[in-house]
Amino acid sequence: MNLTHIKIYNDYDKMSAAAAELILDVVRTNPEAVLCFATGNTPVGTYRELVARAKESGTDFSRCFCIGLDEWLGVPGNKSGSCKYILQEQVFDPLAIKQTQVHLFDGLTTAVEAECEKMNTLIENKGGIDCMLVGIGTNGHIGFNEPGVDSRLKAHEQVLHDSTLDAGKHYFKEPTPIKKGITLGLAQVMQAKMLLLLANGVSKSAIIRKALEGEISPAVPASFIQQHTNAYVLLDKEAAAELTL
Ligand code: F6R
Repeated sequence: MNLTHIKIYNDYDKMSAAAAELILDVVRTNPEAVLCFATGNTPVGTYRELVARAKESGTDFSRCFCIGLDEWLGVPGNKSGSCKYILQEQVFDPLAIKQTQVHLFDGLTTAVEAECEKMNTLIENKGGIDCMLVGIGTNGHIGFNEPGVDSRLKAHEQVLHDSTLDAGKHYFKEPTPIKKGITLGLAQVMQAKMLLLLANGVSKSAIIRKALEGEISPAVPASFIQQHTNAYVLLDKEAAAELTL
């Protein structure tokens, strides 16, 4: 990958501000941009900065379109830890993004294949994703693409690994049974016209090294980012600590 696109910041706040500015640039250049967002701990600061800076600068989000990267299967969108709840609270409500501008996976779907097909078709009809923001799991997952995933897949259902379930349960205010996820596939991650991967903290340093400097392999789904032609990796110092390049 283009090494100039790996950026290392002194702290989480600076990383978050830089990520927010990249997203704002996309929307300023193309107000009808299709944006795709992850949830989790990593992008919380980015979304906070995005909202604050969009308001300050008067950046217009009224014509963009937003897609959710993934969702917990079996979890309703009104539950605190669901991706829908989080994106609604952290991004869509504060930016006054309307429901007509959003498409998310329905965690309660009983027809997973049709739900995936709906997402795949929508992305194609929109002409692809202009900017996708992702985090990385300590096992190297992107979205819910767990180690061993077929990198050619588009949206699909995924049985989640123990480390993902362990991390996931902390997102919920009350105990919530989780086992599987529904996610965009690596094929769609790789097709995003601009990919932002964020990681912070010491717990991500080993996997960041594997993903950016190791072999490109389904064993580390995030390693495919090395083949992306327009990926930005934004790290704080701790997450970057094991990089040698
Ligand atoms: C969440 C998602 C996950 C997270 C990853 C890192 O929508 O797609 O892949 O990005 O598990 O989670 P945090 O940021 O909580 O460390």
